[in-house]
Amino acid sequence: MTEPLLSLKNVTSGYAKDIDVLVDVNLEVFAGQVTGLIGLNGAGKSTLIKTICGFLKPKIGEVFYRGKSLNAIQAHELIDYGISCIPQESSLFPFLSVQDNLLLPVRSRKSMQGWQQRYEEVLELFPILKLKRNQAAGELSGGQQKQLEFAKVWILQPQLCLVDEPSIGLSPKIAEEIFIWLEKFTQNGMGVLLIDHNVRRVVQMSQFLYVLSLGKISASGPQSQFTGDLHEQVKEWLGINF
Ligand SMILES: Nc1ncnc2c1ncn2[C@@H]1O[C@H](COP(=O)(O)OP(=O)(O)OP(=O)(O)O)[C@@H](O)[C@H]1O
Ligand SMILES: [Mg+2]
Repeated sequence: MTEPLLSLKNVTSGYAKDIDVLVDVNLEVFAGQVTGLIGLNGAGKSTLIKTICGFLKPKIGEVFYRGKSLNAIQAHELIDYGISCIPQESSLFPFLSVQDNLLLPVRSRKSMQGWQQRYEEVLELFPILKLKRNQAAGELSGGQQKQLEFAKVWILQPQLCLVDEPSIGLSPKIAEEIFIWLEKFTQNGMGVLLIDHNVRRVVQMSQFLYVLSLGKISASGPQSQFTGDLHEQVKEWLGINF
């Protein structure tokens, strides 16, 4: 059987010593697939991303990437491991130009191959970034900043991408472009962990899904368990009468 790219084993994590936000979470992400994580506001989805990325250390359990523990890794080292994160909040440098935001991660990594071509590609894909490439990133609109986050990932071509609420603040057309883009990421072999409040879209594009409720995985299964006859919990959130 194929090994997962990422696996969380019995992870308990939180911000305060005596309060656990995530409790005994087990989760896997495979290469070339979108894995969806859905849950109500405050369920702990972003906390899970922060725990994977090293902003929070698991109190119990471990996070493995390609079979190796990430527990001792610092957040800034993740890019070197082939892991990118598009957080719910911005990861941009607001006072640096669009171009510098795009190129900073590759310029500081001498071994990165083929980035020049990918840089040209993203400027074609996101004309607004091309137009505003000399402007400070902080001067872009929220939606434009999201496009910049995606453009950065495209240039880096990581093996694993963690994406937290990508469609927030985007017009429906750009949001859809971003979802199509994420699918493209996986066609190139990337593994994606996707969180988004557009539950239907997450279900539609994920091969496997996890439901997080009050910090615990309350349901999980392949897409077939969530499409058509949507999972009961999801139906309830979407306000579907049955
Ligand atoms: N920096 C923090 N310090 C203390 N508690 C926090 C912090 N960030 C989040 N929490 C708490 O952790 C819990 C989970 O929050 P989290 O942001 O992970 O939820 P979420 O599922 O991502 O929600 P949303 O859908 O609203 O983004 C909440 O109770 C929240 O109040
Ligand atoms: Mg969140």
